Amino acid sequence: MNRKDFVRSIVQEMGAPKCESVEVFAPINIALIKYWGKRDSELMLPFNANLSVTFHTFGTKTICSPATDNQLWLNGERIPDESDTFRRVFQFFTMVCGEDTKFLIKTINTIPTAAGLASSASSFASFALAIDALYQLNLSKQQLAKIARLGSVSAGRSIFEGFVQMDADGFCEINPVSSNIKDLYIGVVLVSSKEKAHKSRENMAYTVERSVFYEAWLQIVKRDLKEIKKAMDAGDFFHMGSVAERNALCMHASISMLQEEGRAYLTQESLAVIRKVQSARKDGLPIFCTMDAGPNVKLLFQSEQLKKVQVLFPEMALCERVI
Ligand code: PMV
Repeated sequence: MNRKDFVRSIVQEMGAPKCESVEVFAPINIALIKYWGKRDSELMLPFNANLSVTFHTFGTKTICSPATDNQLWLNGERIPDESDTFRRVFQFFTMVCGEDTKFLIKTINTIPTAAGLASSASSFASFALAIDALYQLNLSKQQLAKIARLGSVSAGRSIFEGFVQMDADGFCEINPVSSNIKDLYIGVVLVSSKEKAHKSRENMAYTVERSVFYEAWLQIVKRDLKEIKKAMDAGDFFHMGSVAERNALCMHASISMLQEEGRAYLTQESLAVIRKVQSARKDGLPIFCTMDAGPNVKLLFQSEQLKKVQVLFPEMALCERVI
């Protein structure tokens, strides 16, 4: 099945847009068990199941209206028609809405774009929501997630609140994960907000094809997913954090030790932050970290530790109580 047929299996008839303009918001999400590698890049299906938590306030606001020409604005700046971003966004709109309707899209990210902070997740989730609102489709969350995922796999998770799991089999349903974790903060230590050299899409295809650790990664995820759900069910923050941190480190190990230079996302600065987290933990502070397709380090901790974490990491930005 190709993408267009997949979309048509969800929305048979788009009809014409029903509104002049819509405004929607989708938050970012952070994976505690990472997805890395696609088994089907046409339908954007991941090789491994993954688990994430969605933020409340950080994300992407999108204002969208039908127009005579496609136009994209990001954080108040016009994005050139010949750029990759423009192409990717309108490929998505055309795939879902067809060739005939053009759109004026204004998006505002409350996070640096392409810094490994999953802004593509909140962007594509907001685009799926915008299309749903514009055409008054009333799609279910599961359907919205399947559409959002065609823009960026992790975008499917941003449609849901709280902890969710994306399955690896079939069409990768996303479902809430039961948890007794009652309090979770995520803060981001910004190491760099520059665009990364290798987009996750390209780097994960390279890892699947070339990394001798990829088979091991798939086994590791199975183990970690089981274990983290047990920890969450038991309300055990320390256990949950330690599985999340080791899972992220394993993902980066599978990417970093590749022959070709410059594939690794973690820099010396990232490693220094990770070491600092680990040594604070050794000194009794319950804090963990996780890293995505970029150099920034996300800190996981609970309310009681907020003050101490702020003192230890004054550079921490985008801090929010997610649960
Ligand atoms: O959704 P993508 O294709 O941008 O990939 C995201 C991959 C990670 O952020 C590294 C892991 C994850 O599960 O979010």
